[in-house]
Amino acid sequence: MSWIKNPSARLFEAQPEPPSGIVTLREEEDGDQGQVRGLIEASFPGTGEALLVDRLRSDGDIVLSLVAEDSGVVVGYVSFSRLTVVDGAAPFRAVALAPLAVYPEYQQQGIATRLIREAHACLAALGETLSVVLGEPGYYGRFGYHHRRAAGFESDYQSPYLMALSFGSAPSGGRLVYPAAFNVLSDDATHQTDHRV
Ligand SMILES: CC(C)(COP(=O)(O)OP(=O)(O)OC[C@H]1O[C@@H](n2cnc3c(N)ncnc32)[C@H](O)[C@@H]1OP(=O)(O)O)[C@@H](O)C(=O)NCCC(=O)NCCS
Repeated sequence: MSWIKNPSARLFEAQPEPPSGIVTLREEEDGDQGQVRGLIEASFPGTGEALLVDRLRSDGDIVLSLVAEDSGVVVGYVSFSRLTVVDGAAPFRAVALAPLAVYPEYQQQGIATRLIREAHACLAALGETLSVVLGEPGYYGRFGYHHRRAAGFESDYQSPYLMALSFGSAPSGGRLVYPAAFNVLSDDATHQTDHRV
């Protein structure tokens, strides 16, 4: 297909067949872990995000992770993990979006948009009602995330970059408790200033 750019050497290493240009989405499976790691390491400085995903998996804290693939090669990834909102009463189960990545050769084709929209639909079907992200308002705003929805939460990451989106009834206040895996980002000296992804 003419709209797809040449694949990188990394993609050829992972899969000798040239990409078809037809990118499909599906849930992440056990056999994807190596390719997902390669994608994340290529997409972020340092190893923080790759370690984050490893730890989220081993802790059983991933609620939903989707991959985008082209001819068996993982070219995009998004993960939502268990975030808890604690506000005196019973803890409320929400999700945190992180990380999100698409190989440069596949960017600007709406793949991340498809991943996020499909994941939101799955999460809503699973009964989830609140998603939180720490990221670029200019990007996540297009999916309905807004700082206004997150401004009432108590969090070490409280800032204009902390945004939330509700699919249904969900609290607007309380303390956000991230999965323990997020500590690897705070500990990663190569990571920027926070865990924005
Ligand atoms: C962010 C990322 C996942 C987007 O993937 P993608 O498949 O190209 O995204 P889409 O094609 O769905 O959307 C592209 C749009 O997002 C915008 N965009 C990408 N990164 C952005 C950012 N950091 N801030 C604001 N907008 C951004 C592009 O400018 C483009 O805008 P347009 O639709 O107005 O042209 C990809 O650039 C990536 O993997 N980056 C490295 C990892 C990363 O930074 N992840 C989190 C980003 S907050």
